Amino acid sequence: MVVLGGTGDLAHRKLAPAVYNLHHLGSLPQDFAFVGVGRKQKSDDQFRNELAESVNKYSSSSWDDQKWADLSPRIYYHQGDIRYADSYPDLKERIEECNRANGGSNNVLYYLALTPNLFTPAVENLNKHGMVQMESGWQRIMIEKPFGFDLQSARELNDVISSAFSEDSIFRIDHYLGKEMLQNILVLRLANSVFEPLWNERFISHVQIIASENEGIGDRGRYYDRFGAMRDMVQSHLLQMLALTAMEPPQEAGPEAVRAERLKLLNAVQLWPEEEERSNLVLGQYKGYKKEKDVDAHTGTETFAALKLAVNNQRWQGVPFYLRTGKNLDEKIAKIVIQFKKPPFFYYGNPLKDLELDYDSLLNILTLKVQPQEGVVFQFNIKKPASTSEIVPAKMDFCQPCAFLINTPEAYERLIADAIAGDTDRFSSWNEVERAWTLIDYIYEQSKKSAHKPHLYEPGSRGPAEADKITEEDGYRWW
Ligand code: BG6
Repeated sequence: MVVLGGTGDLAHRKLAPAVYNLHHLGSLPQDFAFVGVGRKQKSDDQFRNELAESVNKYSSSSWDDQKWADLSPRIYYHQGDIRYADSYPDLKERIEECNRANGGSNNVLYYLALTPNLFTPAVENLNKHGMVQMESGWQRIMIEKPFGFDLQSARELNDVISSAFSEDSIFRIDHYLGKEMLQNILVLRLANSVFEPLWNERFISHVQIIASENEGIGDRGRYYDRFGAMRDMVQSHLLQMLALTAMEPPQEAGPEAVRAERLKLLNAVQLWPEEEERSNLVLGQYKGYKKEKDVDAHTGTETFAALKLAVNNQRWQGVPFYLRTGKNLDEKIAKIVIQFKKPPFFYYGNPLKDLELDYDSLLNILTLKVQPQEGVVFQFNIKKPASTSEIVPAKMDFCQPCAFLINTPEAYERLIADAIAGDTDRFSSWNEVERAWTLIDYIYEQSKKSAHKPHLYEPGSRGPAEADKITEEDGYRWW
């Protein structure tokens, strides 16, 4: 595994801990080696010590001296400036050396942990220097988001990558696809005959997909101010959550079948048609954002987005999908909330309307908790004990870590293991990325037409009050 950008934040916080955990579980191939590539001068030992510190700090597995002693001799550092073509012959030689020292398979997983402007030169150089499509072994590439800034730049990037790697060797990361509960959605739906028959417009009133964060943008101003919440979160993570929730069950085994269904679903997604005086898109910006490091003092970039989408197919006719995400909000949480339709009518001693009960509270809600704590909660209605007429909500609350008492694997562990195994289904195909950008470009265009400006909101709040109107006008509330 060759990490271009091997000394950066991602390598330290996510990649090295994930590799250590995989090693801890015995899930790495025998001939595995890790090569970090960076500009600074340092020895292998120095690099190993730095990674050890990060693993200690960020890994979900407990530190084990023996395990680290087994892994660390297979960690190498290579100094090279990947912006320049003349750095590649040395890198190639170093990789070959590592291959010879570790089983000689020539299987190489390149990981681009780089700023996006370096994706293209890095891939072009790997290709030019004969480091891909070699005669033996496989060479694959894992590429971090953002995959482009809009449809056109994503196409250009994809042209470069796909001229060097075949589609089944390209692993476009959307790390949400590696999250345990997202992998669980299809199982929950399809392995339980109580859910799938209800999974459609006849029984579901609407779906909410929420990923809120309580931190601001930190020191990512340079990237974030260009991208904003729609490009950073909606284009990738939220649309993939939607696709997994709403897609048709795959009709055959294998990664391609899952990706094909996600794509079909994304093709059916559109902004809910505008109705008079109503907005289906609300953007926000937290107060103080303009003063963040590397942010333009007059920026109009959104740090919050709430929108109402439609899925234009038979299963979901008329069912709104509400998406909401933002930085510097009141809590860090990601969840998918499925609200069912109310029972049409029933007698409970008396006709329902005579009961001391708020008919509007008669809800059934299924919540998939993606993070921080993974689980599934089902809310249903029961009679209040000792009462003859009161109905109250009750909850079945499944807490995944409580039930299994194991650390669920971090998304990056899952994704690295998949890329080594050649499993592509938890990665975005080019067609999915292309479709998601088409949609986001369209929504931005609409928002420009109607002069949408981000509404200011207080840091630590629930976001701009205007976002509440999106659901309220349909008679719902954000959960
Ligand atoms: C990243 C975004 O893809 O996902 C970040 O670029 C965001 O802005 C992060 O903070 C959220 O991921 P998670 O796993 O912490 O919810």
